[in-house]
Order: sequence, then C-alpha cells, then structure tokens
Amino acid sequence: MKEKLEQLRAQALDSLKGIKDKKGLDELRIKIMGKKGQLTEILRGMGALPAEERPKIGQLVNRIRQELEERFGEVEAEIEERLKKERLAFETVDITMPGKKRRTGGLHPLSSVLEVLIDIFVSMGFDVVDGPEVETDYYNFEALNVPKDHPARDTQDTFYLTDKFLLRTQTSSAQIRVMENRKPPIRIISPGRVYRADEVDATHSPVFHQVEGLVVDRGITMCDLKGVLEQFAREIYGPETKVRFRPSFFPFTEPSVEVDVSCGECGGQGCRVCKDAGWIEILGAGMVHPNVLAGCGIDPEIYSGFAFGIGLDRLTTTRHKISDIRLLFENDLRFLEQFS
Ligand code: PHE
Repeated sequence: MKEKLEQLRAQALDSLKGIKDKKGLDELRIKIMGKKGQLTEILRGMGALPAEERPKIGQLVNRIRQELEERFGEVEAEIEERLKKERLAFETVDITMPGKKRRTGGLHPLSSVLEVLIDIFVSMGFDVVDGPEVETDYYNFEALNVPKDHPARDTQDTFYLTDKFLLRTQTSSAQIRVMENRKPPIRIISPGRVYRADEVDATHSPVFHQVEGLVVDRGITMCDLKGVLEQFAREIYGPETKVRFRPSFFPFTEPSVEVDVSCGECGGQGCRVCKDAGWIEILGAGMVHPNVLAGCGIDPEIYSGFAFGIGLDRLTTTRHKISDIRLLFENDLRFLEQFS
C-alpha cells in the first residue's frame, strides 16, 4: 500500500509538470483527489489493513495529499501569473511605434480665395451679407431695371423653377434686398452661388460664384468705384498689378465698366493663363442706375452709389493657375489636397 501511495505521488508530480492551463490542472486534480479519484480509491482499501498499520498509512496519505495540494496550488499560481503576463504584454502600448496619421481637411480653393477677398473688403469697411439662391423674377431682373421682355434676359439663360421662382443668375439680386432693408450709408459685399443654363466646358459651369459689392451714400462718384476696385485688385494680385476699365453695359448700372487686371503670370506679354490677352477680366461694375435706387425707396437726387460683381471662379483659377473650371466642382481629393 505504501508503495502504491509513493507511486501515485510520483506519478502525480510527474503529470503536474506537463500541465499548461487551468483546465488540465482541474482535470488532474479530480483524477487524483476527486471523490472517485485515485487517492480516494487507495484510501478505501485501508479497511483491509492490519490495525497497527492504519495510522501510519493514514499519516502518509495525509502528507501526500497535503504535498500534492501545495504543488497544485503552486502550479495554479504559476499559470495565473503567466496569463497575467500574457495579457499585459498584449495590452502594452509601444510608445516607440509611429502614430496613426489622421487626415485633416482643408479649405476648398474657392473658399480660401473668398476668405482673402472678404478680408480685403472688411478692412475697407464693408459688411458681408447673404442672399437667397432661389429668387423671384422681381429681385433677379425687374428691380434691377430689367423689365419683362428686355433683351438682357436672353443673355442670362435662366433656370426657372416655377413661373414665379428661379435660380438667381447673378448676386445683384442681393443689392435690392439690402437697399430695401438698410438706409445709406451702405457698404456691403454678398458672395454666393449663381446659376445659368450653360453647357459645361473648361471655362463654363451651370453653377458658379460671384461676389456682389454695393456702396450707396451721398456724393459717391466713379472715382470711389475706381479707387476701391484698384485697391482690391492690387491687394489680391500684388502691388505691381495694372488695372484697366473698359466701357460696358449692364441695365442696372450707368455708366458701366468691365475691369481687367494685367496678367500676373506673364506681366502682360500673353500666356496660357490670360489666353494670350495680357489681361484678365475679373469683374463688372458701374454706378447704380437711378431707377434701381428709386425702386428701393432711395432718392437718387440725394444718394448715389456704385456696384460690382466679381467672378470668384475666375479669380481662383487665375490665382492658382488652374486650367479647367471643372476641377473646382469635381471634388477630386487628389486635386483639392494640393491646396490644404
Ligand atoms: N451682375 C453682373 C453679371 O453677372 C455683374 C455686375 C454686378 C455688373 C454689379 C455691374 C454691377 O454679369
């Protein structure tokens, strides 16, 4: 019996060495010390021993059980320690690893050029106002001295939504809304989208952007118009820039001009950016027509003003040497990321 016990002990200790996880450990524990385990089995046989042997064997059994329990406990602690180490190793943050790069957004070139432009006009005392893109015929045409059947309507192919509503073809509609709601002195710019039923090509898009400007006060003259617009052109294109005023026609201004700047790329020699003209047309402008002032309740005998409409897309493509206006609307990130 003693031998059997020693053998069991030796076997158990041996098996313990091969145990790798808790499941294996529990199984072994049950196999040896469980209710139907090997040690229990041997104990049952004690009844057959002579009486004087029993206490000795009893002691031995207890010693072995105690020893095995200690060893089991140690192995269990080892397993737990190893699991903990593995978990910590897995959860450890390696601070020497390179960080994850996050892509940050950037302003669209139209937005960043608009910001520059707004800064220039705000520094000259202008307010920035918003106007609706869905307009009535009245604000887009009639109040701007373009009555029904006026030929000027044909030059701006209009998207009509209903008989009454249309997509504005020009930000000039914002002039009327401002003059209806403010008393002179007025000094505003109003940037926004405008729409015309144009075929898409490298220089045309059915949606594009204008920045309207309006100044109304006592004694405003063509000199003020020239001064403000020359200053604007030099700030945006550089101090060397030459500015040219050409006579033009708009129904809501009289006299009217178109304003060109010398091409900053070739200095006026002619190149790809200015299409060999040496000049780039950037805006239309003029003295606000007395009919327009009067229609908004501003007495043209007392007040006068000038207005201008800047083509923001043109400004952006020439400033950044972008050859095709469609790039501004396609939102291809490979293109846009060059500006952020
Ligand atoms: N609204 C005109 C256009 O779209 C531009 C303009 C604005 C002209 C203001 C004169 C005054 O062509």
